[in-house]
Amino acid sequence: MSKDQFLVAPSILSADFAKLGEEIKAIEAAGADWIHVDVMDGHFVPNLTIGAPVVKALKPVSTKPLDVHLMIEKPERYVEDFVKAGADYLTIHVEATDEVESTLKKIKDLGAKPGITLRPKTPLKDIVRYLDQVNLVLVMTVEPGFGGQSFMSDQVEKINELSKYIKENDLDVLIEVDGGINDQTARECKNADVLVAGSYVFKNDYKVAIEKLKQAKG
Ligand code: DX5
Ligand code: ZN
Repeated sequence: MSKDQFLVAPSILSADFAKLGEEIKAIEAAGADWIHVDVMDGHFVPNLTIGAPVVKALKPVSTKPLDVHLMIEKPERYVEDFVKAGADYLTIHVEATDEVESTLKKIKDLGAKPGITLRPKTPLKDIVRYLDQVNLVLVMTVEPGFGGQSFMSDQVEKINELSKYIKENDLDVLIEVDGGINDQTARECKNADVLVAGSYVFKNDYKVAIEKLKQAKG
């Protein structure tokens, strides 16, 4: 992977749900590297969004990895459904379950790439013990639940510390950042690998926005 460009994962939470298939094709044509899918259960976060049947419907439409972010309580109940539906990366919140380790293992055994994520208030030390069991760490730079919120700059230190830890321990883990990402805030995240962006991509010209995000690493 190129170290001087970000990978960009548009969040379909900000897409037009009445034409989701067309939206996927349009962001892929515009240069999206992954497709970020936000799953919310109305318990872990106050919002409700979509479930595994939508992932299943999008799978044949998409040619890029489906990056599924589970904002649900006790994700162990649903990981099998999401992997079977076609999730390539499947990320769980450390705060959402007492069974983090076995759930990550289940995701891997089912054939997907496990990821771990944390709320802005959760310290990095709470996920460090799982870093040898994941392909991805998702750093939240907004409180999970809604698109269109402002980037929390105080989380940048978490990205930098995590990057340092990954390098020092020679781990093969990608850092993804999610929440309030635009062409300016992306510049604060240079130690990350993948940027999730919902409103910034879908409220602008998709191609221009995605290209500006990719270049923000350099
Ligand atoms: C928030 C979601 C994000 C959200 C990002 O809970 O995890 O993926 O869609 O939206 P923007 O880019 O608008 O902050
Ligand atoms: Zn997300």
